[in-house]
Amino acid sequence: MKKIMAVFGTRPDAIKMCPLVKELKTRPDVKTIVCVSGQHREMLDSVLEAFGVSPDYDLSVMKSEQSLFDITESIMQAIRPVLERERPDIVLVHGDTTTAFAAALSCFYMKIPVGHVEAGLRTYSIFSPYPEEFNRRSVSLISDIDFAPTKSARYALISEGKSPEKIYVTGNTVLDALGSTVRVDHSCPELEWARGSRLILLTTHRRENIGEPMKNVFNAVRRIADDHPDVKLIYPVHMNPEIGSVARQMLGGHDRIMLTEPLGVVDFHNILNKSYLVLTDSGGLQEEAAALGKPTFILRDLSERREEILSGTVKVIGTRESEIYSVISRVLKDEKVYETMHRAHGDIEVGASKLIADILCR
Ligand code: UD1
Ligand code: UDP
Repeated sequence: MKKIMAVFGTRPDAIKMCPLVKELKTRPDVKTIVCVSGQHREMLDSVLEAFGVSPDYDLSVMKSEQSLFDITESIMQAIRPVLERERPDIVLVHGDTTTAFAAALSCFYMKIPVGHVEAGLRTYSIFSPYPEEFNRRSVSLISDIDFAPTKSARYALISEGKSPEKIYVTGNTVLDALGSTVRVDHSCPELEWARGSRLILLTTHRRENIGEPMKNVFNAVRRIADDHPDVKLIYPVHMNPEIGSVARQMLGGHDRIMLTEPLGVVDFHNILNKSYLVLTDSGGLQEEAAALGKPTFILRDLSERREEILSGTVKVIGTRESEIYSVISRVLKDEKVYETMHRAHGDIEVGASKLIADILCR
């Protein structure tokens, strides 16, 4: 029997790995082991609970205001005995988090094969996003088998010298997650509050945006909310303490801006589905918003999600206050401009997890 270990540990990699873990667990010829790093705590646990996934190992590394040194070091120290004990046939890591990087490096040191899910995304700018572009490129150096979400991700890996026969285009497991959470009749207090308005969903948490760039974003969105009485804005604030205090100081007390704790994934996906537009520096949210046809504005200078940008629903607008204010004001004022980006969505294209599991079982 094949032993496959999935290692993840933050909110986004959990959302994208849980559907795959659940699929692998249905396969009789595979023993699936789940090891979470605990790089995130509450934000990870709420995803595990939503998908009904129980880890076999929890490295519990998170500490408040952790540095990249803290995460990398503590994961590598903690995962070593787990790998020594289990000796899996393959370890699956996801995307570009420090959990993925540290777990892959540990496997490399122990000569354990690595499968990389969501492989091949690139901005080609090592500091953007930081440190994620480095993390994903480093995992590509180590991985034995790559599951690329798109053709362009596969080409990126081939152009870096990776062997084409070990790179599979599988689609993105985030759509499997989305397919299981979005319901037209979903209700939650945030959606009740937003009823009858044009809802803007905001998320921002990237390390490189903390400080001035994030303050620019907050100034712009406050002005946008002031100008448009029919607009409401929901911002589930990331748990990083460096973000919360500034967000509350700059956006608190506005009657059409709701600041919340991070939302459970089911509520969040359904709020996204009812939103008018999205402002975000997230990676995964770009994919989800594009799948649901929501006009999405990226608060970064570069994005690795090429297909989403080519689809026309996602635009990179950076973090300058004047640019954010003018672009969003135009979209809110001119329905024709809005309609150039908005798409009606049909069925969500699920199936990436099944495909990856099929390949792993072969
Ligand atoms: C990490 C990922 C990033 C991903 C993001 C998703 C890296 C380097 N970055 O960044 O790619 O987009 O997760 O959110 O892997 N915290 C809590 N509870 C939680 C989660 C976080 O209190 O459940 C606080 C802690 O103080 C922690 C801080 O947030 O120290 C930052 O977490 P960390 O994982 O270091 O960075 P993220 O910005 O979340
Ligand atoms: N998400 C969530 N609750 C929130 C905000 C985001 O469940 O309050 C989900 C979102 O649907 C997406 C993922 O978290 O699947 C994105 O995570 P994040 O933006 O933190 O990380 P990134 O994708 O940028 O690495």
